[in-house]
Amino acid sequence: MKDATVLENLNTSVVGRDMRFFDSVKSTNETARQLADEGASDGTVVVAEMQTAGLGRYGRNWFSPPDSIFMTVILRPNEKTPVQTACAMGTVAVCDAVRAKTQLRAEIMWPNDVVVNDRKICGVLAEASSCVLLGIGVNVNFTRSKLPAEIKKTATSLSAEMRKKVDRAGLMAKILQELDALYSTWSVGNTDLLEEEWRSLSATLGNQVIVTENNLSYEGRAVDVSITNGLVLDLPEGGTRAFLPDEASLIR
Ligand code: BTN
Repeated sequence: MKDATVLENLNTSVVGRDMRFFDSVKSTNETARQLADEGASDGTVVVAEMQTAGLGRYGRNWFSPPDSIFMTVILRPNEKTPVQTACAMGTVAVCDAVRAKTQLRAEIMWPNDVVVNDRKICGVLAEASSCVLLGIGVNVNFTRSKLPAEIKKTATSLSAEMRKKVDRAGLMAKILQELDALYSTWSVGNTDLLEEEWRSLSATLGNQVIVTENNLSYEGRAVDVSITNGLVLDLPEGGTRAFLPDEASLIR
């Protein structure tokens, strides 16, 4: 990576102590899995300039144009850590880093998309086995005309929102610093502070939203978001209903 110096000189305790740079991989999560199987240490970061088969949630493809961020962090938390909270750590770190580096008001759209002006700029994919592979993709420097038709309405890039090029390596370094700070408590099983911050950055909480589950749509006001209990809607016919991220999708 041409701007790697800032990443090689990171001042972190665990995350990014070992950085592995690649020009092109199929998916950084896949490369990270191979490296983890070979014994890569806790906090190792796999970064690629390009992905030829970037992986999104639900087996979707992840649009991976040049000059964006594609990275996967190998995490080896202790057995007390609920690994389903890993994605929240990724989204909180990206939100805080984007806010610090660009002054854009990044927020979290339930469950784990980072949005700016209601459009997605980052997706997080966590895969857990003997370790956790925390994959983070951030749309950094490209014009919205490059977006594939199916995500044109719902996605954007940081440079499109800023109307100028963004310092990608500086942003990546800040994301890794934020992750490192969150990791010290998360990795020993304390997820309360993380959940509080994740909730406070929510773009969904308090809004009227539509959720689909098993081909049925539900519209209501989002009265709670919790990593373990999901998204809770206040329904117009009375009462509340909770939706879990693996079973439901947020439409709006
Ligand atoms: C989503 O669907 O919102 C999650 C997208 C995650 C994309 C990132 S890009 C880096 C890492 N490698 C992958 O193949 N996927 C994740």
